[in-house]
Amino acid sequence: MFKIVDKQTVGPNLTQYEIQATRIAQARKPGQFVMVRPNEKSERIPLTVARTDPQAGTITLIVQAVGKTTLQMSQMNQGDSFADVAGPMGQPSHIEKFGTVVVVGGGLGTAVVLPQAIALKEAGNKIISIIGARNKELVILEKQLGQVSDELIVTTDDGSYGNKGFVTDALGELINASDKNVDAVYCAGPVIMMKAVSEVTRPKEIFTVVSLNPIMVDGTGMCGGCRVTIGGETKFACVDGPEFDGHQVDYDELMDRLTTYKNFEQRMLDAYQKTHKCKLQR
Ligand SMILES: Cc1cc2nc3c(=O)[nH]c(=O)nc-3n(C[C@H](O)[C@H](O)[C@H](O)COP(=O)(O)OP(=O)(O)OC[C@H]3O[C@@H](n4cnc5c(N)ncnc54)[C@H](O)[C@@H]3O)c2cc1C
Ligand code: FES
Repeated sequence: MFKIVDKQTVGPNLTQYEIQATRIAQARKPGQFVMVRPNEKSERIPLTVARTDPQAGTITLIVQAVGKTTLQMSQMNQGDSFADVAGPMGQPSHIEKFGTVVVVGGGLGTAVVLPQAIALKEAGNKIISIIGARNKELVILEKQLGQVSDELIVTTDDGSYGNKGFVTDALGELINASDKNVDAVYCAGPVIMMKAVSEVTRPKEIFTVVSLNPIMVDGTGMCGGCRVTIGGETKFACVDGPEFDGHQVDYDELMDRLTTYKNFEQRMLDAYQKTHKCKLQR
């Protein structure tokens, strides 16, 4: 059992958990994730390890309640325990000294790029971060990302905070600015956003890393659920990724595969909400 030692609400439907998981805290590297089962009857779901404290033996997860399992998690409190937390899973992020790196986090993807930004800064890079969200309420981890960034840009779709527009607008301006030389881009967020970011960096052949979020079942390369096509080859995101060269990803296939279980997921959520009388802000 994995005890929740702290639980904080950090945004609408967004919860940050500190979990006692000593061996994972000591072994995990940036870019890796864990498979979590909140209780013995739940589904197993993949979640990025946003931070660790190896001395305290804790890991931090930032979770958006979008469906049955994440909603089940959000009903659990400090002192409760998750049935399983397995990991660390996946390949660690590719970290080297590039020069100037732009990290782009869209929505919850900001939790994924935060550990990458920390590791890239420690490797001696200049970090420019771009956080994008639909509106001000949904901007997360601005302070934490600001602390490791030489420059931080926030964009909101509706202009309620920061620059009005998409992360790709801000990224395009940076890439085309005569006084900036962007050597690499790391990006996580909705698939459509990662696809757009990769198109912005493609003409100048800027090294672009995206963190993919296909459906994962076992997380160990056995089931094939997380199959993605990279440069025409089949890869399993759980063991070969989740990070890949953004210019090689077949995003349309990934978007198509992510919708496969939509009706089933909605039915499970409706049934859970009916019996547990809890609401999700959609
Ligand atoms: C490597 C990786 C890291 C992730 N990190 C985070 C994170 O740090 N925080 C966070 O909030 N979310 C993260 N996710 C997404 C998270 O796993 C899903 O939101 C979660 O599984 C939804 O489950 P549900 O039962 O609540 O919702 P459901 O209603 O079952 O599904 C809602 C949507 O979530 C996705 N999803 C559902 N089941 C899975 C699954 N088994 N594996 C992957 N995606 C699924 C699908 O797009 C689906 O349409 C990550 C996904 C991957 C692949
Ligand atoms: S989740 Fe089963 S092979 Fe990747």
